[in-house]
Amino acid sequence: MKETKVIIEKNSEVADSIYEATLLLDEPAQDIWAGKFLNVSVGDGSHILKRPFGISDYDAKGEKVKFCYQVRGEGTEKLSKLKCGTELMATLPLGNGFLLDKNWKKIAILAGGMGVCPFGGMGKSYPDKHFVAYLGFRNKKAECLTKRISRFADLRIVYDDEPLENAKNAVELFLNEYESENFDAILCCGPKPMFRALKNAIENRKIDIPCFVSLEERMGCGVGACLVCVCKQAKAEGNVRVCKDGPVFPISEVEL
Ligand SMILES: Cc1cc2nc3c(=O)[nH]c(=O)nc-3n(C[C@H](O)[C@H](O)[C@H](O)COP(=O)(O)OP(=O)(O)OC[C@H]3O[C@@H](n4cnc5c(N)ncnc54)[C@H](O)[C@@H]3O)c2cc1C
Ligand code: FES
Repeated sequence: MKETKVIIEKNSEVADSIYEATLLLDEPAQDIWAGKFLNVSVGDGSHILKRPFGISDYDAKGEKVKFCYQVRGEGTEKLSKLKCGTELMATLPLGNGFLLDKNWKKIAILAGGMGVCPFGGMGKSYPDKHFVAYLGFRNKKAECLTKRISRFADLRIVYDDEPLENAKNAVELFLNEYESENFDAILCCGPKPMFRALKNAIENRKIDIPCFVSLEERMGCGVGACLVCVCKQAKAEGNVRVCKDGPVFPISEVEL
């Protein structure tokens, strides 16, 4: 992990108020894989804190990374206006990312909304795995990264405004197929209610394969020093730092 100067190569709207930026790194980054994130400045002096985003794609040499972001507040609004050639500072790669066991062959990805972002580079990180991705979006206009994900995963998509007869969301889509698919593990990223629905289903249906969630808490430093991002442990009296200990945790180990 290191801080480096980056130059925006591309920054364009890919869905409704959702952008993807490509950054050229001044110094190549080592050890990037899916589920890791970056902290990036937003291009003016008035926002001191960098903003965290999942790495949505990267090249093999570590010279280019992409991140996909939804305009939420002032920082992302500023980012969305930045032109190609703008110089920013970024710290990357951060966090543990998705660490997949070599014996897992078939893996379910569950993502809601911007929760798809950390999965964009999964096919590069793990080209030998069979992924099935269950994705939920608000509506078709909010759909992003599905083309990229379809290159390495079988896709199932559901929209909040067009629920299917047997599934209103990505968790239900997954549960409909779980019994017949023989998955070795589950990876999930999305809003907290999605994690809770998945946790309940795992308990009720006695699903006993490993399941990991990627958390997105508000962050300060992004490197483990400020404790802004702490989250309670579920089985012990203590906290974890989402930025440094995560953002990926076994679902049973964190309070959701
Ligand atoms: C590890 C990690 C990975 C993330 N990956 C992505 C990603 O790939 N794409 C993406 O669009 N967003 C991602 N986020 C959320 C993103 O960091 C925030 O949306 C962004 O920082 C908001 O900045 P802002 O200045 O525009 O908003 P602010 O003005 O700071 O806040 C605007 C709104 O966004 C909410 N918000 C702010 N920070 C976060 C946060 N860290 N998590 C959730 N909500 C937040 C606030 O509660 C508020 O409602 C990620 C967050 C983390 C911690
Ligand atoms: S953001 Fe500072 S410790 Fe995690």
